[in-house]
Amino acid sequence: MLVVLQRTKDEVSLQAAQMIAGAIRRNPSVRLGLATGDTMIGVYRELVRMHRTERLDFSRVVTFNLDEYLGIPPSHPQSFHSFMQQHLFSQVNIPRTSIHIPDGTIAHDYDAYCEKYEQAIRDAGGIDLQLLGIGRNGHIGFNEPMSSLGSRTRMKELSAETIEDNRRAFGPGEEMPQCAITVGIGTILETRRVVLLATGDSKAEAIAKSIEGPVSASVTASALQLHRDVTFIVDEEAGSKLAQKAYYDHVLKMTRALMPERLS
Ligand code: F6R
Repeated sequence: MLVVLQRTKDEVSLQAAQMIAGAIRRNPSVRLGLATGDTMIGVYRELVRMHRTERLDFSRVVTFNLDEYLGIPPSHPQSFHSFMQQHLFSQVNIPRTSIHIPDGTIAHDYDAYCEKYEQAIRDAGGIDLQLLGIGRNGHIGFNEPMSSLGSRTRMKELSAETIEDNRRAFGPGEEMPQCAITVGIGTILETRRVVLLATGDSKAEAIAKSIEGPVSASVTASALQLHRDVTFIVDEEAGSKLAQKAYYDHVLKMTRALMPERLS
């Protein structure tokens, strides 16, 4: 596990974008697992900049998003389809057919739909690099506390905390979705590389528990301790409750010197 302590949110975005761009340059057909949310906006902005000014080519990239609200159409302004379209897909040269995002309009046969999503990931060859944010309650994707650590893509009920955090994006009086389709913890643990980003002090406790606490379904990001190649990139505020900062800096220094490819 690598913990990269950055000073600012912009530095977090830049480091993550550089790792994604490096993955695309090394393998133009890379399969990316993507996330939405405030933390990702700066990352996608930087990737769009690299596409425009450094010819970063998305034409063979394949993407699978983590999740989508249940009960809203892709055209809804708060859907994760709209988010991805606005912040990344409409601004880079990725073919429509290479983009996969769970369908929030399915109304029955959730299990069959979710199994098809899992199959599509397998058919594509699995996810090479998975980008993650983290909820205040330690969720990754929408794997809320007490999700099975072996869970697969499925319909998931959102927690009260997540509903409260995400409600502000919806208009006053507008109904906030109560459920989502999300890939599972087991699905995430099968990806080849994970990069998790966190910024701001509201994430400090979740980050400390995920990295230094016990592996527990009550903080689902802690399951990443079992992943073979995970990098946490956090700003000062999100990293403020970590106890082992000096050691992480030492590991980072050694990694930069001996295995720089792990950070590019
Ligand atoms: C969204 C997702 C979520 C978010 C998390 C943090 O696709 O998977 O786990 O990454 O809720 O959201 P922000 O970045 O808005 O704090």
